[in-house]
Amino acid sequence: MRNKVAVIGAGNVGSEAARYLAYNDIADVALVDIKEGLAEGKALDLSEAAYINRFSARVYGSTDYSIIEGSDVVIVTAGVPRKPGMSRDDLIEINLKIIKQVAENLKKYAPDAFIIVVTNPLDAMTYAMYKLTGLPKNKVMGQAGVLDSARLSFFVAEKLGVSPADVNGMVLGTHGDTMVPLPRFTTVNGVPITELLDKETIDQLVERTKFGGGEIVKLMGTSAWFAPGSAAALMAEAILKDSKRVLPVTTLAEGEYGINGIFIGLPVVLGGNGVEKIIELPLNDEEKALLKKAEEHVRKLHETVDRLM
Ligand code: APR
Repeated sequence: MRNKVAVIGAGNVGSEAARYLAYNDIADVALVDIKEGLAEGKALDLSEAAYINRFSARVYGSTDYSIIEGSDVVIVTAGVPRKPGMSRDDLIEINLKIIKQVAENLKKYAPDAFIIVVTNPLDAMTYAMYKLTGLPKNKVMGQAGVLDSARLSFFVAEKLGVSPADVNGMVLGTHGDTMVPLPRFTTVNGVPITELLDKETIDQLVERTKFGGGEIVKLMGTSAWFAPGSAAALMAEAILKDSKRVLPVTTLAEGEYGINGIFIGLPVVLGGNGVEKIIELPLNDEEKALLKKAEEHVRKLHETVDRLM
């Protein structure tokens, strides 16, 4: 049986997610975008790369959501990206309207699919999607931690002169200024970076990670896509292959880490049942305080979503 992933939004992030899934022959991809011709064109371009890149996955695109029928996983990137000077939170009103339209179509055409939200502000949009679809909590999640942890991995690897593939970054909390990079749980083949780098250097890498998205927005005038798109596709792959990957994922906390009723980035086991388990790390007081700040920040955004809905 062929797997099928729907990617909603065929812009920068959606295109990279589709490319990862097709090039690695993970699933057929249905691309949807409201912009006439965009999804169809991107799908055709990707399909024409099949011979060169030796993949058999089929990619098709449309403005019509009916093409997502039968999808196992849906990646939602539809939305407006930020421009220089904007925070992710500035997008809440405009992107909530888009998420509402997307949710209606998902309920109609892919009511049983797992949903991975990428649209910002991520934590709030994932919460909105959960409320709007009424799906169980294991099926609705957000992509932020995989990207933020990958950014931390790269910065650490660059500093130490080692491969990013050997650096396991761990970043929890929100996808924004209150994100919580965890140096004690960021390791180079098992060795915590707190054993390898001095505090001042670690603090610099943590700050760069927190503002990693903004660094790219400043350089390019719009937000990143290679790392965000492939991060979302990696999560879809873990679900489709039932890999039980341990990844930081934006998920509904119900008592874990003392947090209740909000979507926030936590380490989970990601497999065939979506978010199968939240892993509780033994945080110290300082780390707990940072997560508390993140919780407070994200709770306010949840309240804004409730107000706007
Ligand atoms: N249905 C389908 N597609 C939509 C809808 C909708 N209701 N509304 C907007 N889109 C499409 C746009 O036409 C556009 O092609 O979503 C696409 C978004 O692509 P980009 O503008 O290239 O934005 P991108 O960089 O991909 O970011 C998308 O992900 O990382 C986040 O902050 C980012 O929220 C933003 C989202």
